[in-house]
Amino acid sequence: MMLTVRQALSQSALTPIDAQVLLAHAIGKDRAWLVAHDDESLTPGESDRFFWLARRRRGGEPVAYLTGLREFWGLSLIVSPNVMIPRPETETLVERALARLPLDRASRVLDLGTGCGAIALALAREWRKAEIIATDSSEAALRVARANARRLGVYNIEFVRAEWYDDPALSADREAFDLIVSNPPYIAASDPHLGYGDLRYEPLTALTPGGNGLSALATIVAGAPPRISPGGALIVEHGYDQADAVNALFLAAGFVDVESTRDLAGIPRVIAGRR
Ligand SMILES: C[S@@+](CC[C@H](N)C(=O)[O-])C[C@H]1O[C@@H](n2cnc3c(N)ncnc32)[C@H](O)[C@@H]1O
Repeated sequence: MMLTVRQALSQSALTPIDAQVLLAHAIGKDRAWLVAHDDESLTPGESDRFFWLARRRRGGEPVAYLTGLREFWGLSLIVSPNVMIPRPETETLVERALARLPLDRASRVLDLGTGCGAIALALAREWRKAEIIATDSSEAALRVARANARRLGVYNIEFVRAEWYDDPALSADREAFDLIVSNPPYIAASDPHLGYGDLRYEPLTALTPGGNGLSALATIVAGAPPRISPGGALIVEHGYDQADAVNALFLAAGFVDVESTRDLAGIPRVIAGRR
């Protein structure tokens, strides 16, 4: 029996938003089309593709891994199970970064732990004069980030495989950065959230550095001052309960004008400091 769009959506046993995103993906249309054509019949092939995706979604796989795409800062980004799925709260970090530096002159920017390239690409699109280095310890993640840069026509990002600052391009005696940004792994190894929802499918090394979750942030903050030009800034994302600890790391490293910003859910999420 041929199903209509409306029947397929209601028989999927998914939330309405997940069902719409996956059906739109399965038939190569957008969600607005589905709303306007909800009595249109699906071909058997379209139905099969949709219910196959719906079954996987009910099994727990993230929608973004099923479609291979995720929107961030208005950009459609390729994602795969080799990268963490960019989160809306990370847009708070991008906002703080754009507020920090003049957009009318060339600036050097470093994005540590770029994953699919979300932060670096958002900054590059807003800030054409930036010269950006984006790093990750995962070559598989960098392949996704480079594919996103090509897809978006962004050419002012150099992608470098490195363990935090451990690369000659990031040595403290090279030209300093005006801005260093990072959304590093920060979840504590014992946090039960790692066993729920989308996190079960994301790379563990993107989510947790082990221990209490602060070691990557500590390395990044401690190593930043000699690599930032005077007046330049470090901006990092951190966990819901880490604002005090990260604030203390910034002060211990000698940063001034240290400020905390809450995300859209009202949770302290981003800390910025000036050298
Ligand atoms: C929380 S994800 C953030 C990804 C992306 N920046 C975003 O905001 O969506 C952290 C990233 O840090 C990378 N990472 C983990 N350990 C690292 C290390 N020692 N050196 C460099 N990158 C690392 C992971 O591979 C992952 O891509």
